[in-house]
Amino acid sequence: MKRDLISMLDVKDDIEEIIALGIDLKTKVKKGQTTHLLKGKTLGMIFEKSSTRTRVSFEVGMEKLGGHALFLSKNDIQLGRGETIEDTALVLSRYVDMIMYRAMSNVAMKEFAKHATIPVISGLDDKEHPCQVVTDLMTIKEHKKTLKDLNFVYLGDGANNMAHSYLLGCAMVGMNVKIVAPKKYWPDAYYVDEAKKFGVDVVVTDDVKHVADDADVIATDTWVSMGDETQKQQRLNDFKGYTVTKEMMNQANPNAIFIHCLPAYYDYEVSKEVAHGPQSVIFDEAENRMWAQMAIMVTLDK
Ligand code: CP
Ligand code: NVA
Repeated sequence: MKRDLISMLDVKDDIEEIIALGIDLKTKVKKGQTTHLLKGKTLGMIFEKSSTRTRVSFEVGMEKLGGHALFLSKNDIQLGRGETIEDTALVLSRYVDMIMYRAMSNVAMKEFAKHATIPVISGLDDKEHPCQVVTDLMTIKEHKKTLKDLNFVYLGDGANNMAHSYLLGCAMVGMNVKIVAPKKYWPDAYYVDEAKKFGVDVVVTDDVKHVADDADVIATDTWVSMGDETQKQQRLNDFKGYTVTKEMMNQANPNAIFIHCLPAYYDYEVSKEVAHGPQSVIFDEAENRMWAQMAIMVTLDK
């Protein structure tokens, strides 16, 4: 039975093992050891949206595992000219061992996974970004040594893919989650309800006054995700006051860290002072995309 990673819920039973494997692979490769756990395997990577980190980290990660990755831009394959998702999934399943798909929509993602006979890994869709949140949990673990009982605060667009995957991912490892967003941008109720089932504190609020009180981790993301460009001006107005600032970081617990999946837009969702400041771990986080995804690919290939 093939296994996909489309929602954080797909890794709820082995998230800790995947994080541990990511840290182990990172340690081994940095010591010069070979980790050819996917020798001779091929990853197909379909992109319907732009990418820097996802593309490069999957391609280099696959090479480090002894495999090979193929970059498939939607514009260059027949999918972009109207070939069905079903036929594309069935055909690619005959050539490659695994697919990474960055899709415009979660509907397309699920349709692809339904027809593919090989594991499908989401490289983001409009509802979730699971590879990024597995990575972020690995990064938090490295810096804080533990995940359980930490207080996680996310400020900004509470209805986007990052906010949804944070709700599920943080809750499943025992972290308390607070989403701070204007009411119009609160998460889909489904993700809040699923997060609450893990028994942690889940709070959704528009109150930015005491946003960082007791926070161990502060996160944000762009206010204008890919696909939201037509609403850009409206969103910049709506999110005024929701910028992560140095003053906010000072309110948090001592040793609190700042994370951001990147790309960042400075002086909108976060000041550059914070993003490039002493509490920020954003470049460790970017690096960890590769190690975490290597662990994900090895796990799904089993
Ligand atoms: N964080 C992230 O997914 O970055 P890219 O869009 O550059 O892949
Ligand atoms: N929420 C952002 C994440 C980018 C990695 C987007 O979907 O554009």
